[in-house]
Amino acid sequence: MSHGPLQGRVAIVTGGGRGIGAAIALRLACDGARVAIGDVVSDAARDRARAIREAGGTAHGDHLDVTDTSSVTAFVDEVLQREGRVDILVNNAGIAGTIASLAEYPEEIWRRVFEVNVHGVFRCSRAVLPAMVRAGYGRIVNVASVSGKEGLPILMPPYGASKAAVIALTKNMGRELASTGVLVNCITPAGVPSTGFMDWSNVPPRLVESSPAIPMGRWCDPDEVAAMVAWLVSDECSFSTGAVFDISGGRSTY
Ligand SMILES: NC(=O)c1ccc[n+]([C@@H]2O[C@H](COP(=O)([O-])OP(=O)(O)OC[C@H]3O[C@@H](n4cnc5c(N)ncnc54)[C@H](O)[C@@H]3O)[C@@H](O)[C@H]2O)c1
Repeated sequence: MSHGPLQGRVAIVTGGGRGIGAAIALRLACDGARVAIGDVVSDAARDRARAIREAGGTAHGDHLDVTDTSSVTAFVDEVLQREGRVDILVNNAGIAGTIASLAEYPEEIWRRVFEVNVHGVFRCSRAVLPAMVRAGYGRIVNVASVSGKEGLPILMPPYGASKAAVIALTKNMGRELASTGVLVNCITPAGVPSTGFMDWSNVPPRLVESSPAIPMGRWCDPDEVAAMVAWLVSDECSFSTGAVFDISGGRSTY
C-alpha cells in the first residue's frame, strides 16, 4: 500500500468512519497516503483505521466533530504533531437532515445541516490552511452533491442549499489560494444509496424513481467517488482549482 502516487502524503478524511468517507480513506491509503480518519462516531473512525492497517496501510482513527471548533483544532494539531505535516484534506462529513416541506421544516435541524455541511468545511479548512500555505502545497476536496446544482425531487430543502454553499465556498477558496500551491476543488455525486447517509427505505417512491434520471441507469458506488477524489488530491491534479467535478452518471451536464 505504501508505494502509490500519494506516498509520503498525509491526508485527513472527515466523516471517514463510514460510507463514502470510509471508501475514500481506504483508497488514499492504498495510494500510499498516511490517513487520519476523523468521525463524530469515534468507534467507526478507529475501526476503519484498524481495518486499513490490517490491510497493510497507514491510518489513525480518532474522534472529530466538525461542528465543534475545539474538536477540529485538537484533531488537526494532533495530526501535525504525529505526522509533521498535512497535505490533503477531504471535507466529507455531511448529514441529510430530515424529510419535510419548507413550511414545516424544523429550524433546529435546518441549522444543524448547515452546521455540519457548510460550517464544518469552513472550520476544517481553516484549521489546515496555515500548515498547507506554509508548506506551499495542499489539496482540499469538498464533498458537495448534485443537489447543490439542481435541488432535490424530495423534501430536503436545507440539504441542497447547504451543498450549493459548499460549491460556492470551493470557488472562493480556489481563487483565494490559487497562487499558494493549495488547490481546492469539490465533487458533486448523485445518489450513493449503499451508505448510512439516510434510510432509503423511508424515502418517498418519487426519489427512488429519480434514478432513471441518471442516464447511466444506476446509482453511484462509494469506490467510484473515492477514485475521483484520489486523482483530485494527487500531484497529477495541478491546474484545476475552485472547480466542480461532477460524478452523477450523466444526470448533471454542467
Ligand atoms: N449518499 C449519498 O447519496 C450522497 C450523495 C451526494 C453527496 N453525499 C455526501 O457525501 C458525504 C458522505 O456521505 P455518506 O453517504 O457517506 O453518509 P454516511 O452517513 O454513510 O457517512 C457520513 C459520515 O460522516 C460522519 N459525520 C456526521 N456528522 C459529523 C460531524 N459533525 N463530525 C464528523 N463526522 C460526522 C458520520 O458519523 C458518518 O460516518 C456527505 O457530505 C454527503 O452529503 C452523499
